[in-house]
Amino acid sequence: MKLTPILKATLVVGSLLFFNPVMAASGEQTVDIEARIARLVSQMTLEEKIGQMSQVHAGDGLHVKLGDDLRAGRIGSVINVTDVDIVNALQRIAVEESRLGIPLLVGRDVIHGFRHIMPIPLGQAATWNPEIARDGARLAAIEASAAGINWTFAPMIDIARDPRWGRIAESLGEDPVLASRMGAAMVQGFQGSDLREPGSIAACGKHFAGYGASEAGRDYSTTNVPENEMRNVYLRPFRAAVDAGVATLMASFSDIDGVPATANRHLMRDILRGEWDFDGFVVSDWDSVRQLSVHGLTGNDRDSAFEAAAAGVDMEMAGNAYISHLEELVNRGRIDEKLIDSAVSNILRVKFRLGLFERPYVDPESLPDPGEQEKRALLRKAALQSVVMLSNRDRVLPLRAGQVESIAVIGPLADDPYEQLGTWIFDGDDALTETPLRAIRQLVGADTEVRFLKAMETSRDRSNREFDAAVDLAKQSDVVVLFLGEESILSGEAHSRADIGLPGAQVELVRRVREAGKPVVAVIMAGRPLTLADIVNEVDAILFAWHPGTMGGPAIADLLFGIESPSGKLPATFPRMVGQIPIHYNHKNTGKPPGPDSVVLIDDIPVRAPQTSLGNTAFHLDAGYEPLFPFGFGLSYAEFDYGNLRLGSPEFAVGESLSVAVDVSNLGDIPADEVVQLYVRDLVGNVTRPVRELKDFRRVRIEPKQTVTVEFTLHSDDLAFFGRDNTLITEPGEFRLWVGGSSRADLGATFHLIDAN
Ligand code: NOJ
Repeated sequence: MKLTPILKATLVVGSLLFFNPVMAASGEQTVDIEARIARLVSQMTLEEKIGQMSQVHAGDGLHVKLGDDLRAGRIGSVINVTDVDIVNALQRIAVEESRLGIPLLVGRDVIHGFRHIMPIPLGQAATWNPEIARDGARLAAIEASAAGINWTFAPMIDIARDPRWGRIAESLGEDPVLASRMGAAMVQGFQGSDLREPGSIAACGKHFAGYGASEAGRDYSTTNVPENEMRNVYLRPFRAAVDAGVATLMASFSDIDGVPATANRHLMRDILRGEWDFDGFVVSDWDSVRQLSVHGLTGNDRDSAFEAAAAGVDMEMAGNAYISHLEELVNRGRIDEKLIDSAVSNILRVKFRLGLFERPYVDPESLPDPGEQEKRALLRKAALQSVVMLSNRDRVLPLRAGQVESIAVIGPLADDPYEQLGTWIFDGDDALTETPLRAIRQLVGADTEVRFLKAMETSRDRSNREFDAAVDLAKQSDVVVLFLGEESILSGEAHSRADIGLPGAQVELVRRVREAGKPVVAVIMAGRPLTLADIVNEVDAILFAWHPGTMGGPAIADLLFGIESPSGKLPATFPRMVGQIPIHYNHKNTGKPPGPDSVVLIDDIPVRAPQTSLGNTAFHLDAGYEPLFPFGFGLSYAEFDYGNLRLGSPEFAVGESLSVAVDVSNLGDIPADEVVQLYVRDLVGNVTRPVRELKDFRRVRIEPKQTVTVEFTLHSDDLAFFGRDNTLITEPGEFRLWVGGSSRADLGATFHLIDAN
């Protein structure tokens, strides 16, 4: 087998389709900005300062009512205006008719695309390709800029370990390293290398912090995250976003250990400003300042304004607690005006960095135009890389276009231009969508007959009245492709589910179609991991496509027919059943870890069995301890072989790096991408450490019968963690390392980290 050149550990910079790096803002400019902020703040009245700290909802036609407040300098930002003429008109009032002429921030949830839609963020995370996430964010930023938007509320970098939580769709999954890399890449894409560059918009890392731990996966529910876990897990992507230069962060709705995030001084003052030196600004979530009294932390809006401002929320989103009460709180001495000055400075800093004072108006003509074909190519590639093949019995896939004469396409999600776009697509244009049915027809051409039956009105339809027809259609066809899943509205904000199985009569549909005796391929579109134990053995193959966005159709068709091999990997664990949740690969070992020999399943327990204290381990009698599909898992049409794992040395010192190399061979006959993953376990720690932690990964292309050597560089900083006193420590000791194609990788080695001297 021929060895191809070594792939270096640093990210290979690809075509940079939409990403045009320019010089970052110079130090000189920073000094200049600070001087301009100080000068401006010194000229502002207290009312004008508080105005900057207030964002108002200007959608739903409400912009027409804002003139007087804009002239009086009582508004710092608007949210939900998406017409560039209206934006420019509002901006003109702020800039030309208010005393100090401070331009507005124009915010909008541009989450995974604007008109053209990328896969949902969870799907993007399944690509394990930060470049594609960056390019997608860039495209979204360019399109949003043309509508006058200069600030998006993305990326959402909440670690999500609970697939019941509807917002897992908007997340980058369960792992801190994967979410950090993908989130930082999105920040880069939205913001470019310089916020002043046309097409750049300010990003917002959200929701600070711990929102993903909502109890029972019920959105907005309480979160209980101990500080050590907060730091070792939930805060990591936020730190990465801050390091990537994210302009703003959003405080979470949730209550953490009795102090809602919106009032959490420890998070915002001690950690974010004190430890991380964040110099952008923090916005509340929608009306979350006033909700402090609903939580029961305060008794009225005045105290809510006090708590949030004192804790470090610089701007209030869509509420009126600040504008109504901060002035009085300052005048009565409860809040020092210096605190207000620093909040305003943080906001003005972002406005200066965006170049809004120099270029307040938007001219869509002046923006870069990537062109329709390039946009579609990017979206198609993103969708292609996001799809995870979960099973492929007897290699039923790929279908061979020439050999399949007739295909039955069945299911409620095969031809729905809207639903495949996913949650959070306020401005998405479903007229641009290419559905799987259309794409399959196009791909196979006239020689193959493609017959379609929706069979169910929606994914939730409980009726089986069309199932006989579905069986007949299956009988008349060489192969059945079932499009299953959940509509976009079943995930996203405030759309959590307690049962995450396939809704409605879908499982019955699968069983019935199976009766026809034809190969059955399931393509599942969903906003979350689903419990698929009911169907996994009923179908021959499963392609899990998330909500794949505008170009999901052609991407799925390409995968079905082997134009390209599946290469997505799960960014979150798929449980067998809901009762296993939370279940994530990077759990702790516990004092009684289960193993294959220790599991006794409920049916195997004899009656009158005596209770014993011996040999017990941590598992469920009705589910064991394994998920259905582990984090990092995903099959390919190629067969990859991992071997020749070698470490630069068996030990290395704190402050230094270890090189890790592995040979990955494609034994198959189709070129394919593989995501090579590196995991580590710290065997003994000052606090207990997870059984495995992802440390690095690389997507590589491997030609048939070729081997590539993938090199990683593991720095001792990658092994650092927050210890008992919640400070970051790097502990010498023994570590286990694995490299492979999922979190179950078994090719391993041991190394030691030793003291620096
Ligand atoms: C509430 C959501 O939690 C937040 O993520 C979003 O940005 C705001 N609404 C604005 O729509």
